[in-house]
Amino acid sequence: MDHVPDPELLVELERLCTELAFRAGRFIHDERPGHVRVADTKSSETDVVTIMDRRSEQLLHDLVRQARPEDGILGEEGAHVSGRSGLTWVIDPIDGTVNYLYDIPAYAVSVAVVVGDPETPGAWRPVAAAVSDPCRGVVHHARRGGGAWTRPDRPDEHDTGRDRRLAVSAEARLGRALLATGFGYEAQVRARQAEVLREVLPRVRDIRRIGSAALDLARVAEGTVDAYAESGINAWDLAAGWLLVEEAGGRVVGVGEHPGPSLTVAAGPALVEPVRTLFTGRTDPDRDAW
Ligand code: IPD
Repeated sequence: MDHVPDPELLVELERLCTELAFRAGRFIHDERPGHVRVADTKSSETDVVTIMDRRSEQLLHDLVRQARPEDGILGEEGAHVSGRSGLTWVIDPIDGTVNYLYDIPAYAVSVAVVVGDPETPGAWRPVAAAVSDPCRGVVHHARRGGGAWTRPDRPDEHDTGRDRRLAVSAEARLGRALLATGFGYEAQVRARQAEVLREVLPRVRDIRRIGSAALDLARVAEGTVDAYAESGINAWDLAAGWLLVEEAGGRVVGVGEHPGPSLTVAAGPALVEPVRTLFTGRTDPDRDAW
C-alpha cells in the first residue's frame, strides 16, 4: 500500500475535503427540487440515482480536477479517473439517496482521499476525509494523525476556531449498545440481513437504520451511536467515515483486519470485538458474515 503523504500535504488535503464536502452538501440541500427526479436505477429497482446525485458528483469531480489534477477519482455515480500521484479521491455525492428522494433529513456528502487501490477491498486506506451533514448544518473532518472534528457549515461560522473534537462512546456492554446498521437494495441480500437481525436485536439496546452509512460512521465518531455494522457497503460509503471513527479513538474492522463489502464494523475499542463476533460468529459454514 502507498505511504501516507507528508504532514503539510495532509493538512491541505483535509482542508480541501472539508471545502468540497461543504460545497456539495450545501448544493444538494439548498438546491433540492420539490420533486426529486430519478435518473436511473442500479442493483435493483429501489436502488435509485437522482439527477442531483449526478450533479453533485459532477461538481465534486470538477473541483477535484481543478485543485488536484494529478490525483485519481472514484465516484459512486461512475466518476473514474486514474491518477499519477498515488492519491485517489473517493466520493459519494449523496449518501442516503432514498432519504433524499423522500425528503427525510438524513443524507450526506462523503469525500475522502485514500492511498492504495480503492477498488480492491483491503488494499487501501483513507488519509484525509470529510462528511457533510447539511440537514444538521455540520461538516465532520479528519486527517490521519490529526484527530476528528466537526464544524458548523454556515459560511459566517466556517472557521477552525469553532471546531469541536469528536470522540467515540466509551460503552463496552453489548447489551447497552445502540447499534446503527443498514441493508442492501437486493431482495435476497435483505432476506439474509433480516435473518441476522433476529439474532442481533435481542442482544443490543436497540438498532437504528438511519439510511446513510456515512452518517452512521460519523455518529460512531461523535459518540451519538455506540457502534455500526453492515455488509455490502462500497468504498464510497465507507472511506470518509472510516477515518473519522479511527481519528475519534475508535476501530473499524471487517471479517479480518480491513473493513469492506463482506463486513464493516465500527465502534469504540471495547465494543468492536463483541459486535464483530455478533455478526460473524455464526454456525453456518457457508457464510462468514451477512
Ligand atoms: C446506501 C446508504 C445506506 C446503506 C446502503 C448504501 P446510497 O448508500 O449508505 O445507509 O445501508 O448499503 O448503499 O445508495 O444512499 O448512496
